[in-house]
Amino acid sequence: MPGLFDPISVGPMFVRNRIVMPPMANNKATEEGLATEWHVDHYGRRAAGLGLMIVEHSYVRRDGRAHKNQLGIHDDGVLEGLSKIVAAVHQAGAPIVIQITHAGSRTSSQILGQQPLGPSDVRVPGDVEDPRPFTLEEIDALVGDFVSAARRAKAAGFDGVEVHMAHGYLLNQFLSSYTNRRADAYGGSPEKRLALPLRILRAAKEAVGKEMAVMVRLGADDGVEGGLTIKDTVPIAQALADAGADAIDVSGGFQGSRPPQFQGQPGYFVPLAIEIKRAVKVPLVVAGGITDPVYADELVQYRDTDLVAVGRAMLADPMWAVKARFTGCG
Ligand SMILES: Cc1cc2nc3c(=O)[nH]c(=O)nc-3n(C[C@H](O)[C@H](O)[C@H](O)COP(=O)(O)O)c2cc1C
Repeated sequence: MPGLFDPISVGPMFVRNRIVMPPMANNKATEEGLATEWHVDHYGRRAAGLGLMIVEHSYVRRDGRAHKNQLGIHDDGVLEGLSKIVAAVHQAGAPIVIQITHAGSRTSSQILGQQPLGPSDVRVPGDVEDPRPFTLEEIDALVGDFVSAARRAKAAGFDGVEVHMAHGYLLNQFLSSYTNRRADAYGGSPEKRLALPLRILRAAKEAVGKEMAVMVRLGADDGVEGGLTIKDTVPIAQALADAGADAIDVSGGFQGSRPPQFQGQPGYFVPLAIEIKRAVKVPLVVAGGITDPVYADELVQYRDTDLVAVGRAMLADPMWAVKARFTGCG
């Protein structure tokens, strides 16, 4: 039975153990979305002993940014900074993936200087304004922006990309009947709500080829009435895996990654992640309240989890993965 320190393949990536640092936004980029030496140090230090690094959500175009100092992957000007992060993480022996995203309505005209975009004119609860629906032409252009971002990731030396479909951001908004009220090819039924996320996944895979991983971060439950639940997300995960997702990274929540109703116990998304794992053959990553290496090892050994993401505990302790070796589970 594999444990926390056994290797695994994620698509073409060799991952030396099951410990993942999940994407965590720092809002330390320049206003142009460029990485700085701060990022190189931050990610480089946390790669020690790590299985897989996933860099924070990075916008594929300027109107998809959620925060003023968010990292971008929207323009070739980002390549120099991103490739330094890649080098630092590779130096420590871990593969590195970058999460690519568009915020949809989860931003504001104060940040963008224009009305945010979304599938329909329905905001995610807690957002500050209603978005303007994407036109069909704008959807085509958006697919191209995700493709360009994936190509940039390849050019910067990343081992993979993770398409962000969770936490209420744009692709979650397309998946969810709460925010997607379209009556065209991209809304109106579960299959049509899935059409854009699938199209982006397939296009990204085609763009980067077999030597790069394309993962997906999926929200297993929106946690809002009228939003997605596990009954909806199991078939979504199956369709994404069938379309070539190299791993499903399970999280949840429509208004962020830590919905209050799920907090409180360690591994709060594990029960939902296991339901998804039973339906797909690709590796499963799960995050949410995991801080104890012995528990993380149990998840891999006995609970159908392939990789365990440790977020806040790794922010607090960059040596978390190294120290985990000394807890008796290594
Ligand atoms: C400061 C911070 C920033 C985050 N930024 C992102 C992000 O960019 N993309 C994402 O998918 N999740 C993001 N998350 C969610 C984490 O990846 C993770 O799923 C969550 O923190 C739960 O794991 P934990 O309990 O181990 O921290 C963020 C979490 C924190 C604490």
